[in-house]
Amino acid sequence: MKSIIEVGKNLANKIVLVRLDLNVPIENGKITDTNRIDKIVPTLDYLIKKNTKLILISHIGRPKGKVDENFSLKPVGDNLSKKLNRKIKLINKNIYQLNKSNLFEAKDYKIILLENIRFYAEEEKNDEKFGKHLASLGDLYVNEAFSCSHRPHSSISKISKYIDVYAGLLFTSEVQALNKVTKDIAKPISCIIGGSKISTKIKIIENLVSKFDNIIIVGGMANSFLKYFGQNIGKSIYEENSVEIIKKIIETAKLKNCNLIFPEDYSVGKNLNDAATNKTKEEIQDLDMILDIGPATIKKIIKLINCSKTILWNGPAGYFENENFAKGSFEITKAISKNTKEGKLYSVVGGGDTVAVINKLNLFNDFNFVSTAGGAFLEFLEGKELPGITALK
Ligand code: 3PG
Repeated sequence: MKSIIEVGKNLANKIVLVRLDLNVPIENGKITDTNRIDKIVPTLDYLIKKNTKLILISHIGRPKGKVDENFSLKPVGDNLSKKLNRKIKLINKNIYQLNKSNLFEAKDYKIILLENIRFYAEEEKNDEKFGKHLASLGDLYVNEAFSCSHRPHSSISKISKYIDVYAGLLFTSEVQALNKVTKDIAKPISCIIGGSKISTKIKIIENLVSKFDNIIIVGGMANSFLKYFGQNIGKSIYEENSVEIIKKIIETAKLKNCNLIFPEDYSVGKNLNDAATNKTKEEIQDLDMILDIGPATIKKIIKLINCSKTILWNGPAGYFENENFAKGSFEITKAISKNTKEGKLYSVVGGGDTVAVINKLNLFNDFNFVSTAGGAFLEFLEGKELPGITALK
């Protein structure tokens, strides 16, 4: 995988096609989370300084191959234009009517944003002709959309057959960070994995169990294990039909010498809006809902964090949306960020909810890497080869 940095001085006057992930949440025309936009600004600044002309490509939402004003990239283009302090021309014209020689005819802009690439059905079909035409618009291509790289789509995959391809700055650092928790690992390594369903994380656990010293299971998915162990979990959420998965995880962990750690005490409520009461496993009653880990479990997890050299965290420890049940997730956040800041730990965090937790504490910058990629982050951790990475190779 070649990084865009490697092209260096040869970039001047080149037309660079940049695939971005500008798939940000928009409510009533307003962007509610600009994280993904903020993170690609350094790459675009770098390319602008090299005196390039840019064609930005992205999707937003899932318009299913049809033009739909509700999925226009206009608000994103406006936001990005302010951040870059540069004019960005949004192109609505059919892509097939565009060609390299006239795209930058007007001299008052050097950045073009193509309207939502998923307005074309060809994109999601990884259509050869579409990818070839896209490639024909530029001199080189940069993938700065790691978070879309699990999608075998034309602007991620097929395009690479017809143009020189490079990885963006963020793309490169995202892959490097993920390699540090899957390949070039500083040990001991611990994974804290939460969220509500084991089935969505089973492949990650299967892939990581042989590489990790500790896998700490928290959040709703821990309840399924507790139930499997015969514990009363009251009204807590758990996943039906998970017995076989659980058996397999426990067996593999034993075989691979990986410690599985589960919550030992709990913070419970009668409903999601309730106040928190700490309980031991014997104290859980039929109407209780386990909504967070308890103080003894927090202490145990912090001890493991303090002993680890690498941490991967995906999925909150409890129902953090109610602050009464955010303590577990907050304490984990603080412990990882403290050790990271002191240089004792390499930390990688990912997943929308987990990122929301650390944002609540304003500690986003205290981790080595916070991934904004949802599906791509998970698929990489599952050990899958992502089409976007294959394309760059
Ligand atoms: C994401 O938000 O994870 C990426 O933009 C990919 O979006 P998709 O799940 O609609 O392909």
